[in-house]
Amino acid sequence: MSTRPAIPAGARRRSKSLWFGIVLSVVGLLGLVLLATFNASTGPAGSFGPLGGYRAQSFGSLGERIFLSGTDANGNVIPRSTPSMYGMMFAQTGCAGCHGRDGRGGTVGAMMGSFRTPDIRWTSLSSDQGSHVNGQAHAAYDEASFARAVRDGIDPEGDRLDAPMPQWRLTDAEMAALIAYLKSLR
Ligand code: HEC
Repeated sequence: MSTRPAIPAGARRRSKSLWFGIVLSVVGLLGLVLLATFNASTGPAGSFGPLGGYRAQSFGSLGERIFLSGTDANGNVIPRSTPSMYGMMFAQTGCAGCHGRDGRGGTVGAMMGSFRTPDIRWTSLSSDQGSHVNGQAHAAYDEASFARAVRDGIDPEGDRLDAPMPQWRLTDAEMAALIAYLKSLR
């Protein structure tokens, strides 16, 4: 009669945590896949998405590059705050990831809910019809107040923009290029 050799308790614990690790990675991967498909299927036409889907493209201008991919002229991700869990999910994207490829804003689907973003085409920002997604009105933006909104998260009335709008560390040249691009959006 042979009895099975006893497995030392430590080894058993080790293999348990190995399995736990594998299961966690699989769940994590599944989560990413879900995130991508959920986003593609619920995003408005023009396709919003947190996964930096525009990064592989070539860009017509620095402004377009910042808008679509959130990267600078050297391809580095432009530093920004990541307010809220949503902000973190969009930590690698440009403005288009949340405001849409056409800049018109909309409802952004993310795995555990959704949030709304305003129209940031220059024609809208510079009209005095501008309002927050909650309907609260504010005066028209000019280039200085736009730069303050993007860098410091403050609107023309001095009110704080809500998360998940990040605060972006853009150079003056990048800011000018971005504004020129927003002016070209129709
Ligand atoms: C993670 C999502 C996200 C990203 C990325 C993002 N925004 Fe926003 N943005 C928002 C949300 C949400 C609001 C609404 C905040 C509010 O109404 O208080 C907003 C508001 C704004 C506003 C204020 C508009 C208004 O009517 O007051 C401007 C301007 C703006 N974003 C510009 C940009 C620019 C430029 C970029 C890229 C450099 C960008 N955003 C990237 C989510 C985002």
